[in-house]
Amino acid sequence: MVSVFLSGLLATLVAQTVDAYVVPQGKLPDLHKLGTQDYLFPYLAGAAPYFSFPGNYGIPTTAPEGCEISQLQVIARHGERYPTTGRARRLFSTYYKLSNYTREFNESLSFLNDDYTFFISDSNNIEQETTYKNSLDVLNPYTGQRDAEKHARQFLDEYSALLENTTSFPIFAASSRRVHDTAQFFSKALGEKYNVTLQVVSEAPTSGANTISAGNACPGWNESANANITDAFSTDYLKNIASRLNRQNKGLNLTQTDAFNLFNWCAFEINVRGYSYMCDVFTQEELINYSYYDDLTSYYQDGPGYDMIYDVGSNLFNASVKLLKQSEELDLKVWISFTHDTDIVNLMTTIGLFDNGVKLDPTSVPFRDLVYRKSWQTPQGARLYTQKYKCSNETYVRYVLNDAVIPLESCKSGPGFSCPTTEFYDYAADRMNGRNFYKSCDVASVSNVTELTFYWDYNERHYNDTLLNQ
Ligand SMILES: *[C@@H]1O[C@H](CO)[C@@H](O)[C@H](O)[C@H]1NC(C)=O
Ligand SMILES: *[C@@H]1O[C@H](CO)[C@@H](O)[C@H](O)[C@H]1NC(C)=O
Ligand SMILES: *[C@@H]1O[C@H](CO)[C@@H](O)[C@H](O)[C@H]1NC(C)=O
Ligand SMILES: *[C@@H]1O[C@H](CO)[C@@H](O)[C@H](O)[C@H]1NC(C)=O
Ligand SMILES: *[C@@H]1O[C@H](CO)[C@@H](O)[C@H](O)[C@H]1NC(C)=O
Ligand SMILES: *[C@@H]1O[C@H](CO)[C@@H](O)[C@H](O)[C@H]1NC(C)=O
Ligand SMILES: *[C@@H]1O[C@H](CO)[C@@H](O)[C@H](O)[C@H]1NC(C)=O
Ligand SMILES: *[C@@H]1O[C@H](CO)[C@@H](O)[C@H](O)[C@H]1NC(C)=O
Ligand SMILES: *[C@@H]1O[C@H](CO)[C@@H](O)[C@H](O)[C@H]1NC(C)=O
Ligand SMILES: *[C@@H]1O[C@H](CO)[C@@H](O)[C@H](O)[C@H]1NC(C)=O
Ligand SMILES: *[C@@H]1O[C@H](CO)[C@@H](O)[C@H](O)[C@H]1NC(C)=O
Ligand SMILES: *[C@@H]1O[C@H](CO)[C@@H](O)[C@H](O)[C@H]1NC(C)=O
Repeated sequence: MVSVFLSGLLATLVAQTVDAYVVPQGKLPDLHKLGTQDYLFPYLAGAAPYFSFPGNYGIPTTAPEGCEISQLQVIARHGERYPTTGRARRLFSTYYKLSNYTREFNESLSFLNDDYTFFISDSNNIEQETTYKNSLDVLNPYTGQRDAEKHARQFLDEYSALLENTTSFPIFAASSRRVHDTAQFFSKALGEKYNVTLQVVSEAPTSGANTISAGNACPGWNESANANITDAFSTDYLKNIASRLNRQNKGLNLTQTDAFNLFNWCAFEINVRGYSYMCDVFTQEELINYSYYDDLTSYYQDGPGYDMIYDVGSNLFNASVKLLKQSEELDLKVWISFTHDTDIVNLMTTIGLFDNGVKLDPTSVPFRDLVYRKSWQTPQGARLYTQKYKCSNETYVRYVLNDAVIPLESCKSGPGFSCPTTEFYDYAADRMNGRNFYKSCDVASVSNVTELTFYWDYNERHYNDTLLNQ
């Protein structure tokens, strides 16, 4: 029965596809596992597929009664993807240890006995978005392509009124190929009614301040600046995983580095295949410690724990505030940009969305007082919406991250827990007071472009930068 159903579906899918291609069918016995592991996504350090923000306060995302949206800004991450080059290299080294093991595997690794094929089967896919075509299972519900298409549909459902007088408009994408591809899938899914021009803005350091991905143009940024803090986090959970697997499988020699790689194996295999038996290797407590390690490292590398990040995020925040201030004069009401997770994290740091001033503790896992949950903030396909709306004679600003309204703690007196624009502009000026991306990052050593202009000069410049596999 199942195989008849599947081959029927396969035939339909192929027939519907403009460019017919061979769709990998996947293995029938794994059908019951496919698309069932959503409960793990919040623990997988943002590498797993998209999920709505779990810290949702229940505030409706639609404009409050009597209010009308006057501008929407979208900053979104690329969708579900294959691992990056560096991650793939580390994953292969762990995979080789397992594939060179000559005995039968026991317990949680026993799935490797059943003619398992590694999920990176073509090195050309490394760094790339997962698509219907390069996915390892035709039924994978988590491809980046599908996520972008679904996002476009949701966007239209909520905001198409903003485009009632607009058919031709730009969508901005950083020049990473997977970011561009996400923007393109999103644009196409808006339908033929719209004539979207992709503006591909260079994410190379030479672009200086005229970039959506300021982090890439910041030579001063030092990944290890706070390593002496984050290194204090106990790696016992990794040692436990490695020793458990080695104990269950005589002669296997996994290290704590291998154990760390297995979390990425789990997350990325879900992006590629729609499920991963590797995820069953971990206990729930190990998953919790792993996700906190991600919160901790992000906080001190790309978030409020690293002072320079306020400057990095100010590059985009400043442009965003400028667009908000110009909303009456600008014809375009919707500003959509695609980029990387760290750029969104940097931006939210300067905005102050998840910054309660409490420094994250590397010596234990906090719960009640932990608001900086990076592992929840930027999954694949993450999206930060800036809404500006008008209610009678006043205007307001608020943020929606991954389907959840996140009020600004110190400015939320407006309808829908929004911030009145008059207060908001002061708030923003205060957050960016003394901040300077160009100076703080030593951008001058790689570029003399001191200002972000692409939102204003795209019509003359026609941004069409070379795509990078990064
Ligand atoms: C065993 O590991 C080596 C690298 O250490 C790798 O080149 C080789 O392909 C592996 N063998 C199998 C069967 O995976
Ligand atoms: C579209 O144009 C009409 C007529 O000028 C105007 O009333 C309406 O506000 C415009 N809509 C938007 C979203 O700008
Ligand atoms: C689509 O947009 C581009 C860029 O603005 C413009 O040059 C072109 O004329 C538009 N095409 C249509 C059919 O509106
Ligand atoms: C980065 O920071 C670490 C820790 O402070 C320091 O040892 C290292 O020299 C720095 N690297 C650069 C390139 O400045
Ligand atoms: C980390 O190193 C910096 C200097 O590079 C120092 O100021 C700070 O106290 C150190 N922190 C810890 C936790 O060791
Ligand atoms: C999780 O981390 C905490 C704090 O470092 C530690 O006490 C606990 O033993 C860890 N759990 C595991 C399973 O390693
Ligand atoms: C693992 O399984 C094999 C057979 O599949 C068995 O011979 C071996 O004793 C098991 N090892 C352990 C540590 O349980
Ligand atoms: C595992 O590591 C130990 C210590 O490094 C070594 O003696 C042993 O030969 C290794 N076993 C395998 C199967 O690689
Ligand atoms: C809006 O209108 C109220 C009275 O209706 C007035 O008190 C308030 O100052 C007005 N606000 C602005 C920004 O014009
Ligand atoms: C914001 O942009 C203005 C120019 O529009 C510039 O003068 C100012 O320095 C910028 N501030 C930051 C923090 O980047
Ligand atoms: C600086 O800007 C000028 C144009 O104003 C350009 O020709 C030159 O190549 C730039 N230099 C660097 C190092 O980017
Ligand atoms: C961008 O450049 C590519 C390759 O140079 C070209 O094929 C494409 O038509 C260009 N797109 C636009 C919108 O100009």
